[in-house]
Amino acid sequence: MENTAATKKVMLSGIQPSGDLHLGNYLGAVKNWAALAEEFDCYYFMADLHSITVRQNPAELRRRSLAQLAQYIACGLDPEKNTLFIQSHVHEHAELGWILNCYTMFGELSRMTQFKDKCAKNADNINGGLFTYPSLMAADILLYQADYVPVGEDQKQHCELTRDIATRFNNIYGETFKVPEPYIPKVGARIMSLVNPTSKMSKSDPHGCVFLLDSPEEIARKFKRAVTDSDTENCVRYAPAEKPGVANLMSIYSSVTGKSFEEIEAEFQGKGYGAFKPAVGEAVIEALRPVREEAQRIMADKAYLQQVYTQGAQKAGYVARKTLRKVYKRVGFVEKPF
Ligand code: TYM
Repeated sequence: MENTAATKKVMLSGIQPSGDLHLGNYLGAVKNWAALAEEFDCYYFMADLHSITVRQNPAELRRRSLAQLAQYIACGLDPEKNTLFIQSHVHEHAELGWILNCYTMFGELSRMTQFKDKCAKNADNINGGLFTYPSLMAADILLYQADYVPVGEDQKQHCELTRDIATRFNNIYGETFKVPEPYIPKVGARIMSLVNPTSKMSKSDPHGCVFLLDSPEEIARKFKRAVTDSDTENCVRYAPAEKPGVANLMSIYSSVTGKSFEEIEAEFQGKGYGAFKPAVGEAVIEALRPVREEAQRIMADKAYLQQVYTQGAQKAGYVARKTLRKVYKRVGFVEKPF
């Protein structure tokens, strides 16, 4: 059968504009999205509703949401082939989020590792939104009847909870939601901090984090300072348990060059970490150079960005409305007369 929009499987993912995009977001998520547009019907959004679960500076949040959209496009997401939108522009997300809260258990939400981590980091602001964050994420996914959710490893637990919520709802009311599957890349699914290779790369640890918009000098400096392992072996070998720093650099190098771990080991045989670290830095600089330059060009074109997110919200809103109408009917709400 021909792969038309009606028969194509649906992909959906989002990133919080709570910080600028970093190498983890890129290798674990966005980089892999561009190639999916031919085969799938793809929706990607800036998860601004999710980002306010942690206090944000309003002007910065607005700037980063638009900068993120520019970076999506610069990473190869063609707005004519992908639906790109801002989550808060499609109010059905918040509405279905509320409904799904009523079908998500307190115990389930309490077990989410991201919730526990965020509570530890934001002890002075453990708000209700932080707790019910996964129900909103389930709404994001289920509104579009997504088949696959391309994410890094850290979002797998949320995707599994989404499956449980969808199945629970379907069991009560009959088939309403497609039960989605996470779509996790083989390499790059978990990029670790350059200075603390046992924690994931995250914007809250700026020294260990490479941002897509960092200058080449900044990227080179960060890789030069990357922590390798304190073994005396000084040998580039993939052994994540023993040598997490080297394994992380190998994953990054493999993701940006497409080389396998064996090829990387052979390339650096007898050369040691002193040669390996700057080589990874150089490869990342070259991979990100076109993305940074194109993102800067697009960011300056506010009218174009507005046209993209307007068109995206219209397309997304159409699909979201259809699902929400069905859900309202199923749960027993009186049909809206206008
Ligand atoms: P967020 O904004 O934390 O991260 C966005 C994407 O980047 C991936 N990622 C990583 N991958 C590899 N290594 C890392 N160090 C790393 N850090 C982040 C994440 O797995 C994710 O794919 N809850 C989501 C946003 C969201 C969403 C959704 C995603 C909201 N609604 C619906 C999918 C579907 C989040 O906080 O991602």
